[in-house]
This record gives sequence, C-alpha cells and structure tokens, in this order.
Amino acid sequence: MIRFYMEKDYDAMSYRAASFIAAQVLAKPTSVLGLATGSTPIGMYNELAKKCADKKITFKAVRTVNLDEYYGLSPEHDQSYRYFMNKNFFDKIDIDKANTNVPNGQNPDPVAECARYDALIDSFGGIDLQLLGIGRDGHIGFNEPGDAFIGNTNYVKLTEDTIDANSRFFASADDVPRYALTTGIRAIMQAKKILMVVNGEAKAKVLEEAFFGPITPANPASILQLHADVVVCGDAPAMAYIAEKHPEVLEK
Ligand code: GLP
Repeated sequence: MIRFYMEKDYDAMSYRAASFIAAQVLAKPTSVLGLATGSTPIGMYNELAKKCADKKITFKAVRTVNLDEYYGLSPEHDQSYRYFMNKNFFDKIDIDKANTNVPNGQNPDPVAECARYDALIDSFGGIDLQLLGIGRDGHIGFNEPGDAFIGNTNYVKLTEDTIDANSRFFASADDVPRYALTTGIRAIMQAKKILMVVNGEAKAKVLEEAFFGPITPANPASILQLHADVVVCGDAPAMAYIAEKHPEVLEK
C-alpha cells in the first residue's frame, strides 16, 4: 500500500515525516532506521531532534544505516554524508554514535566495502523503516537510472545530472566526487516500511512518474510500487502532479 500525504509547505512536510519516524521509534525502541541525506530531510531531522530534547523520544537503543556515501571523501570532509549526518542529526540526539553506520567512502576496496555493508545490514535483521528522498532523475540513495535495478550495495558512477544537482554544495562541479557507494534495491525493498520525503516543484514530475508510470530502472524510485508499505510525504509543489492527475489517492 502506498499512502500519499500532501502538506502545505516544507515545515508541515517535515513535521509530518518526523511524526512517522517518532512513531516507529516509540513502537520499537530498538528500531533499525535506514537514513538519507540531501536537503529535503533536514527539517525532519530538526523536528526529531526537538522531540528528543523534549524527552518525547529516545534514540538510545536505535541503530542506523545510512543509504550512501561519496567515494573518496573522508568523514571529516564537510560534504561527506557522515559529516552531514553528524551535523544535522546524530550530534543533536541521544543516539550512541557507535550504533550509526555510513558506508566507508575511504575503503581502498570499494567492492569489499559494499559486501561489508550488506553483511552489516543483514546482521541487523534488515531495516525497520527506510527514509528516502528522490533525486530529480528518480534516483534513490545513489541508485541512478540505468538498464537494470541493482540489488546489492554497489559502487556507482554518478550521472551528470546528479553531479550537476549536487554541485550546489561544492565549490564547483569539478569538486563533486564522480563515484559513490549506495545501498542497493534489495535492502531498500526489504525494509519493512518506507518513508519518502520530497519537496519542491522540481521533483513533481519525476515523483508522479515513479508512482504512476512504468516500473523501470530508468526511474529507480518506480520499484517502490512493488513495496507493501510506503508513505510519501511531500509539500504541495512536489505533490502538484499527483494532486492534479490522481487526486483520489491523497490522504485527507
Ligand atoms: C542525493 C542523495 C539522495 C537524495 C537526493 C535528493 O544525491 N544521494 O539520497 O535523496 O540527493 O537530494 P535533495 O533532498 O537535496 O534534493
């Protein structure tokens, strides 16, 4: 089942998304959370940090596995996803950092790192709730559009579109790493629940195509149509196409 929540703006989207994660952690304090980076979830992470500061939830027994990491960046690099997670979330909550996991972008053997990461996720018994954003080309994690869905954690070459989209965070497009490590489709699809957050009109078309178009590796997020428990939480601009073409699917 896929449920679509259209919220009026970014703050409302963040609040709603945080309430889903908080509910998961309340219901199962030992949850394994699959986490995501990008600008979209920052507001949601702030809401969760507030709930934690107010003692409404605790992350003390939670374990996390992040979706992806740039290959070649150190954890101290301010654009690495490890740095992002510490700054935007882990440093603001009561989680034990030893329970937080991000692919190691500095492992000299990226293929071995991918195998290590899959084994780690499997050792946790899989993911309870996977948070996802969506790239403007439909990517989830760094699973880029291609000829086939890739199951395992994989070492990927980023598309020009992703390099361009993410160049806003770097001094120039030349500084954006060309390769990344990303959790594959298997671990994502095996997560018991999926929460996708999406904001801004630039994502509206690809979002509608992902959930109402063909299931195709050309739009990696489209595979989520096969998942049994997905919540899509978007602001009004991101949900615009879905609201226009399929108004009946929106939660009231
Ligand atoms: C990055 C990340 C994705 C993220 C996407 C969208 O490339 N690897 O996990 O969902 O970009 O980012 P944003 O939320 O900034 O649009």
